[in-house]
Amino acid sequence: MRAELRRLLLAVWCVSLIGAPAVAEVSPRHDYVLHCSGCHRADGTGAPDDIPSLIGIDRFLRSPEGRAYLIRAPGVAQAPVSDERLAALMNWVVVEFGADAPSPGYTAVEVGVWRARPLRDPTELRARLLASDAPSDEPR
Ligand code: HEC
Repeated sequence: MRAELRRLLLAVWCVSLIGAPAVAEVSPRHDYVLHCSGCHRADGTGAPDDIPSLIGIDRFLRSPEGRAYLIRAPGVAQAPVSDERLAALMNWVVVEFGADAPSPGYTAVEVGVWRARPLRDPTELRARLLASDAPSDEPR
């Protein structure tokens, strides 16, 4: 009888593990607060001269390189979340702090490709992307 009870308790415990946090939905906002807001702040404004503001972040989506940059930025690429959650997080970030949603939206596969190539020198690429963002009639 006691052995049976133990088996039953074990079975219930196993089922509860399967249904536990791994399956629970973690919202992108929650991931942002947990993994990003410490630097970029809850409102995305960052810190002057130190942490870039995420306001208007969709400007990087105008080029394929900029689209990849948003994932390859070290704080993004190295966030301790799965590719699926990072894709959901970045789709949320772009809408929350930018004007336009990524089109098409980031997928887990795309995010997996770019985060495997984190940037060694984000500063140089960032400056180049922002410079090429200037109006096209200006001399380059
Ligand atoms: C330890 C501080 C830190 C954390 C944590 C962090 N970032 Fe960043 N982030 C930076 C810095 C600094 C840059 C500028 C590029 C660089 O030097 O890495 C940056 C760049 C970015 C960029 C590119 C913006 C631009 O204007 O260049 C995006 C988008 C971004 N971070 C989003 C996130 C998201 C989303 C998270 C959470 C998953 C996150 N960051 C976590 C510090 C951080």
